Amino acid sequence: MTPQQLSPGSVYPRPGPELRPGDVAVLVPAAGLGTRLGPGAPKALREVAGATLLTHTVRRLAAAPSVACIVVAAPTGTAADVAADLAPVTDVPLHVVDGGPTRQESVAAALWALPDPYPIVLVHDAARAFAPPDLVERVAAAVRDGHDAVIPVLPVVDTIKQVDGDGYVTATPERATLRAVQTPQGFRRSVLEQAHRAARSPDGALPATDDAALVERIGARVFCVPGSAAAMKITNPADLATAELLAAEPARTLAQP
Ligand code: CTP
Ligand code: MG
Repeated sequence: MTPQQLSPGSVYPRPGPELRPGDVAVLVPAAGLGTRLGPGAPKALREVAGATLLTHTVRRLAAAPSVACIVVAAPTGTAADVAADLAPVTDVPLHVVDGGPTRQESVAAALWALPDPYPIVLVHDAARAFAPPDLVERVAAAVRDGHDAVIPVLPVVDTIKQVDGDGYVTATPERATLRAVQTPQGFRRSVLEQAHRAARSPDGALPATDDAALVERIGARVFCVPGSAAAMKITNPADLATAELLAAEPARTLAQP
């Protein structure tokens, strides 16, 4: 069911148990080069276990019942090929746009291309190709419950230091207060749009490495839900071995957090 199909006057969203709630769109920034992964195709288009990372990502997003629309920001010049490659992967409506030179610009390009009816927008890195559908649902549910912005987090295992440009430590934040942040991050759509509008204004903030940071800058509160080890970001060559393991366990990564 899509939001357009809801009858007038229905309490929205009110899906039947067997129906796709259909109130969630996911933006997938996938335009990065994958420099840390080493030479080769852009990261989202590299293959693991016979499929591109982007294909693994889209499969898992589409397996989340709330997801009714996916917008991919593809590496420059690949949008038509990416759309053709992804067409057989899912029957969830899927749009592909050209990404930008930064992650933030890629997310913005996908956001401004998003069709109207989705009140909840998730942003999910293609590089986190094995994030399980249950995690997608957990984030979406927390937005549906009334949070403006929701991020999945894990406890930090290392001690984290703040350092200056000369290599000297300037602070040691208490580890118990720190969290490692993943995607998908979820937002009330109007809040995400306001945050991205503010970020592109002439006196907008510095570039941010995640969307929650943009939302924090406009004063909205960001709520944390438990993340998932399977949602790790594939970044360095050593991560490809873990990716192969996660790809080889589709039942687990498709079914559990
Ligand atoms: N991304 C994007 N557009 C960019 C840069 C990054 O859509 N201009 C996306 C990446 O494709 C990835 C996500 O943002 O899915 C997180 O970025 P990261 O893991 O840093 O990926 P890359 O930028 O591709 O990798 P690297 O920094 O090693 O080059
Ligand atoms: Mg990068």
